[in-house]
Amino acid sequence: MKIDVLVSGMMVVDILTKVPSSFNKGTKHEVSKILVQGGAPAGNAACVIAKNNIKTAFLGYKSTSTLSQIATEEFKKCNVDTSLLITHANFQPAIAVVNVDSKNGDRTVFYSTENYQPLRPKDINEVWIKNCRLLFVDGYDVVGNLELLKIAKKYNVPSVLDIESGDVNILKEMISLGNHIILPLDGAQTLSKLSSPEDCLEYLSSLTEGQLVITDGANGSWASDDKNIIHQPAYKTKVVDTTGCGDAFHGAYAVALLDNKNLKERLEYASAYASIIASHFGGRSYFPNKEEITNKILNV
Ligand SMILES: Nc1ncnc2c1ncn2[C@@H]1O[C@H](COP(=O)(O)OP(=O)(O)OP(=O)(O)O)[C@@H](O)[C@H]1O
Ligand SMILES: [Mg+2]
Repeated sequence: MKIDVLVSGMMVVDILTKVPSSFNKGTKHEVSKILVQGGAPAGNAACVIAKNNIKTAFLGYKSTSTLSQIATEEFKKCNVDTSLLITHANFQPAIAVVNVDSKNGDRTVFYSTENYQPLRPKDINEVWIKNCRLLFVDGYDVVGNLELLKIAKKYNVPSVLDIESGDVNILKEMISLGNHIILPLDGAQTLSKLSSPEDCLEYLSSLTEGQLVITDGANGSWASDDKNIIHQPAYKTKVVDTTGCGDAFHGAYAVALLDNKNLKERLEYASAYASIIASHFGGRSYFPNKEEITNKILNV
């Protein structure tokens, strides 16, 4: 089957809980919501892209473990192709406990990567990448993802990167290989040792010929075109849970790129999409259609 977008990155199962702003430790609390859902930057982005009717496959491993079965089923529910997942005995996706503050939607994440196996270069098949329209990788599974980026470059397949944190030198190498590098401001600050989005963009642009975008939650996003820095404000929304907002921004940016939208349009599309995700509990609970995004952009 022809795959348009290949996605690789940490596979995670989220357990999301709506928690009160303050509670007594060591006691029992009934909460209004606990949700088990697939999560993580690359996983959530894959779902956003697939839900836009683009043939999208996730790369990585699977096993008969309960968590792996949940992760795989969660992909299938979002139309993500799981046929390239390779069986690997004892494989476990990472697991995250996400506490969502019921007052303001802020999320705190605790995660474990026990028994997690990132994609190994020896399991990568060059033909997968050669024949696709876009490669999407995160900055966590760096060994396999670096290899994927090198192959994508060799075959002129464009790439979108979601880099949050990790080894500075490896992330810089990924940035140098990538075409569209989107990272949160704190990640950009760590890499550049600078503070403002504008300064971070200038420094990071010296590492790559790719398009850089910096996001900063409700403060919006920044990108530099040939001459100017564009600031895209975040769209106002009734925030329920910010889990997966950044991931959705990346996925929606990739969709807009495949739709041949220009930089300004891509930022608008990604921001509008992410703001709608913030108004739902869980990063994969709701996928807006193109009409909703257009209405959000036009404020109707
Ligand atoms: N509270 C919010 N209201 C509206 N839009 C938001 C909000 N939070 C985030 N966004 C949108 O999502 C984009 C990405 O968010 P953010 O910078 O928090 O990503 P991130 O740090 O990678 O988060 P994540 O943990 O979800 O990956 C922002 O630039 C903005 O457009
Ligand atoms: Mg993120």
